[in-house]
Amino acid sequence: MVDTTSGTRRRSSAPTPEPRKAIELIGARKAYRSGTIEFEALRGIELSINVGEYVAVMGPSGSGKSTIMNILGCLDTLTEGQYRLGGDDVDDMDEIDLAAIRNEQIGFVFQGFNLMPSLSAWRNVEVPMMYARVPKEERKQRAQRALERVGLGSRLENRPGELSGGQQQRVAVARALVGEPTIILADEPTGNLDSVSTMDVLTLFDELHAAGRTIVLITHELEVAQRARRIVWVRDGEIMRDEVNAA
Ligand SMILES: Nc1ncnc2c1ncn2[C@@H]1O[C@H](COP(=O)(O)OP(=O)(O)OP(=O)(O)O)[C@@H](O)[C@H]1O
Ligand SMILES: [Mg+2]
Repeated sequence: MVDTTSGTRRRSSAPTPEPRKAIELIGARKAYRSGTIEFEALRGIELSINVGEYVAVMGPSGSGKSTIMNILGCLDTLTEGQYRLGGDDVDDMDEIDLAAIRNEQIGFVFQGFNLMPSLSAWRNVEVPMMYARVPKEERKQRAQRALERVGLGSRLENRPGELSGGQQQRVAVARALVGEPTIILADEPTGNLDSVSTMDVLTLFDELHAAGRTIVLITHELEVAQRARRIVWVRDGEIMRDEVNAA
């Protein structure tokens, strides 16, 4: 800021605010145990993501991407290290706190859509609000609005089997958005989609990013990752590279 009121140009000394951290993994390790065999899927991950960032996580099959996603989404816990979400230490929380975080702060989108086949589009979108005890009338209105936002305002009553893959994934995105989460976690959201539907879903993510949401998108397709502003490369449970995406 420049002060011109006194005739001389003076620089304001107000410091620029530090960006707020949405996600922090510190020395994160995750071991899976099957019988006597232990496998270390995450081997000391350091990852810090600011509020409003759009980050892609890339890496070969088995590198630990979904493991990271499950930790970030509070679906699983670390064996060692720390996970801070919005500044709060997740490792100290009990299952009730974790469930509340999953409901209120995080929107999930999965490769397989994970929709309930017997429910119409709007009833699928309504589900997370039922857990959050939102009143019935409000649930329907919000589900409708979320579906309109993803371009499915005319398919409210259709079941997943009556929708294309891309449309089903858009229902899943609407369901992820309906609770107004601060963070969207997407694990291969375009993995089962054709190129047109992939573009539709990625355009939705662009809009969510522009609206200030924090997005973590897991993919093994470089073209998809290049929509993000930052790309984190994982291999054998470690971060190999973390770079700003200039594309
Ligand atoms: N429940 C589990 N028990 C034992 N090992 C597991 C378990 N879940 C994952 N793993 C192992 O941990 C490693 C990382 O798995 P993860 O699912 O995170 O990989 P990924 O990067 O998501 O792979 P993909 O691209 O194939 O989805 C793999 O070697 C996998 O076999
Ligand atoms: Mg995976």
